[in-house]
Amino acid sequence: MTSGAAVVIGASGGVGGAVRSRLEASGRFAVVHGVSRRGDGVDITDETSVAGLAARLGEGPPLELVFVATGVLHNGFEPERSFKAMQAAHLLRDFRVNALGPALLARHLIPLLTRDRRAVFAALSARVGSIGDNRLGGWHSYRASKAALNMILKTLAVELARTHPQAVVAGLHPGTVDTGLSKPFQRGVKPEKLFTPEQSAAHLLQVLDGLQPADSGGVFAWDGARVPE
Ligand SMILES: NC(=O)c1ccc[n+]([C@@H]2O[C@H](COP(=O)([O-])OP(=O)(O)OC[C@H]3O[C@@H](n4cnc5c(N)ncnc54)[C@H](OP(=O)(O)O)[C@@H]3O)[C@@H](O)[C@H]2O)c1
Repeated sequence: MTSGAAVVIGASGGVGGAVRSRLEASGRFAVVHGVSRRGDGVDITDETSVAGLAARLGEGPPLELVFVATGVLHNGFEPERSFKAMQAAHLLRDFRVNALGPALLARHLIPLLTRDRRAVFAALSARVGSIGDNRLGGWHSYRASKAALNMILKTLAVELARTHPQAVVAGLHPGTVDTGLSKPFQRGVKPEKLFTPEQSAAHLLQVLDGLQPADSGGVFAWDGARVPE
């Protein structure tokens, strides 16, 4: 066991809840904080809320792992099939939750990351956020917000390499996971390609364990393969 802490933001979600349980069961960290909007009122799009979280976490041991498991895909908006369906409110909502929220978490939680040993800042992204891999089109708001997240992570990695040489910043693609977020889009997914949250959490934590500072800034899929930029 280390003397440091792990924090999972979005612990009320499918993947986030499974990651939190797995970290707790591993006994690797002195403390595992599970944080959510539903449970703790922490809204990642509200800077006062994020600053309050940081103040609370700052009273405990230094952070060795920040795992951002928040995100939104539908909830009130249908992912766009055409540019004709794009709406300002949808674009803004997805950017706020998927890109701005993780950026605020980085702004307030990176100062709590340990510097004298390995530390990881990871966020759940999605393969569809890859610009190079985009062959199908559609899902404009979600794709673009995840591409923005990937750039935020890359930029953090460049900066942290100077101040936290042992740190790793990573985006993660969890696979298609059976959660509320993917529920409306599971038709056509082969059963063996639809992971339980527990399977996905096991894969993702294994991938994180294998990452080196030289990998920092990349996005990695559940099987450890790098997702094209
Ligand atoms: N499931 C998949 O197949 C899949 C595939 C690729 C990528 N991903 C990515 O994986 C991540 C987790 O997805 P999931 O499948 O576990 O989804 P989920 O079960 O719907 O969980 C989403 C989580 O995000 C939280 N959240 C949303 N908006 C928030 C806000 N403003 N402030 C704080 N928390 C907020 C939710 O909190 P509340 O409970 O309070 O609403 C919930 O904890 C997402 O980033 C998603 O894009 C998932």
